[in-house]
Amino acid sequence: MAEKYDLIIKGGSVFTPSGLVDCDVGVKGTWITDLGKLDAGRGKEVFDAAGLTVLPGVIDTQVHFREPGFEYKEDLETGTAAAALGGVTAIFEMPNTQPNTTTIRTLENKLARARNRAWTDFAFFAGATNENVEDVEHIERQPGCAGIKVFMGSSTGDLLVKDDAVLLEVLRHGHRRVAIHAEDEDRLRERFDLVRGGADVSMHPMWRDEETAMRATERILELARQAHRRIHVLHVSTANELPLLAANKDIATVEATPQHLTLSAPDCYERFGTMAQMNPPIREARHLDALWEAVRLGIVDVVGSDHAPHTREEKDRTYPNSPSGMPGVQTLLPLLLDHLHFGRLSLPRLVDLTSAGPQRIYDIACKGRIAVGYDADFSVVDLNAKREITAKWLAAKCGWSPFEGRIVTGWPMATIVRGNIVMRDGQLLDRARGEPVRFQDTL
Ligand code: DOR
Repeated sequence: MAEKYDLIIKGGSVFTPSGLVDCDVGVKGTWITDLGKLDAGRGKEVFDAAGLTVLPGVIDTQVHFREPGFEYKEDLETGTAAAALGGVTAIFEMPNTQPNTTTIRTLENKLARARNRAWTDFAFFAGATNENVEDVEHIERQPGCAGIKVFMGSSTGDLLVKDDAVLLEVLRHGHRRVAIHAEDEDRLRERFDLVRGGADVSMHPMWRDEETAMRATERILELARQAHRRIHVLHVSTANELPLLAANKDIATVEATPQHLTLSAPDCYERFGTMAQMNPPIREARHLDALWEAVRLGIVDVVGSDHAPHTREEKDRTYPNSPSGMPGVQTLLPLLLDHLHFGRLSLPRLVDLTSAGPQRIYDIACKGRIAVGYDADFSVVDLNAKREITAKWLAAKCGWSPFEGRIVTGWPMATIVRGNIVMRDGQLLDRARGEPVRFQDTL
């Protein structure tokens, strides 16, 4: 009898649109063709998922993979390998490389580099600048473009659009949801004297204070409304922004990071020093509590890792000369599974934040749920496995993580990208077969 499926995922607990169901998943080619009790004999390959939970593939919509320009920190191959090892099936990469991704040419260059080297599917953001305002609407419609990213405040690199007039023009050019780094540049400059001559890294959230984030978020919401444009506010870090964002749900979606949901000041700076330095900063526990409440209330739409590696040597510089950012693409899912274990979120909420949420926000085609006709992307997890996050397991080039040594309950056991098993039991398999993510408005 001819094989009906190229792959059958057998005996797992599968997160379907109807909830968790004990069933098998049939895959033909790169997409899901069946859900139900399937005859193992009809599959070319059978993946034994007994005791495991099969989730829609995790999509990490904020990573910095540093290629081209800073490959000594990370590259598209190592970054996506880390992603696959962490159970992530697709990534959206940020434009602050060298050169910055600000033109169709630099975007195409990244897409070409990712071919045959990316272990996961991928899309690239293009950065808005004072110079490319007229072009952003064309760039965002290129295949493989995740959309436009705006840095309202300076962070790593030189991408910046600080003035309302230019921001409004960016928002007026195009249709896709615009991803926003919301920190107010003027306030950052005014307050830099607090740390300029050298300071303890625990001053980071005082320099880049709550008002810095709040002011930028208020401004961009107002501008988005004027421009009738949807925005996505990245890595929200303060309690005060959340009710404001909740009151603007028609135009604004919200990202939180695992770092802001797991670490808090001053403890993180005492324990990890500049390793915990990121923009916007990790703040006191009351902000972490507010973010969890916003997860519960549905105000947070997505969790993205903001994977932003720098070398140890760079991080060892004295603050504020130490760069901001920490790796995280590989630990995103383990940390969220651990939070699930401790009851801070439910499994449906986790899937919403890591698969369905990214799909909804960015209008991704055929990803974000386990349903017939969708891409065969799966993050197969053991909800009960208790594991330590070790240096040996971590694959990011920078070779460190603030989460090293942490014991978590819940672990990615396999990563399946469009029907290809690319990670199993901590090993990468086969070869890098990532493809550009497709979007509904540019199919
Ligand atoms: O901490 C950060 N690091 N925040 C950003 O916005 C950029 C990132 C990086 O690229 O290093």
